[in-house]
Amino acid sequence: MTTTTQAAIVLPPLPYARDALAPHMSRETLDYHYGKHHKAYVEKTNELIAGTQYEDASLEELVAEASGTLFNNAAQVWNHNFFWQCLSPAEKKPGQQLIGALGSFGGLESFKTQFDKAASELFGSGWTWLVKDKGGALKIVASADANTPLRDGQVPLLTCDVWEHAYYIDRRNDRKAYLQHYWPLVNWDFVSANLAH
Ligand code: FE2
Repeated sequence: MTTTTQAAIVLPPLPYARDALAPHMSRETLDYHYGKHHKAYVEKTNELIAGTQYEDASLEELVAEASGTLFNNAAQVWNHNFFWQCLSPAEKKPGQQLIGALGSFGGLESFKTQFDKAASELFGSGWTWLVKDKGGALKIVASADANTPLRDGQVPLLTCDVWEHAYYIDRRNDRKAYLQHYWPLVNWDFVSANLAH
């Protein structure tokens, strides 16, 4: 057993300071959600792949190929890496191309309402996503626990973490309040970039 091995999967730095999302998301939430939960998924993934066929695998390969506990931890790393990029301290507005693409939901406000509904109705822990389907259509999908639409060949454009650990510090058990504070943080530039991908 060595402790000098280079960790294969890393915890990416946050794209903003831990207090930058306040008051919508507090520094304490970032300290726990990023600094403890996300970090723990990274550490567990590295622990599980050490000395196995997956030791040199990329995170994307792990999400695509792993199962059981390894999949759960690796997918949670990927989902959180993506989630933090979906947020921004600077107020963003969706561009015209994105607004046009969201026309299939009946426009931006209707899209938000449908996304909120999917997030509110997701039973237990999971993620709510806006994805581009294989055929190019935009869809709102919910994934339970660590599951991710990447595994289904869909292109994630936006996600909201609806695990209770995402909001219990700031909003206690109130997922709806968490969602209300989620929208002002959405990095629409990132969504547009993913759409163009
Ligand atoms: Fe989370």
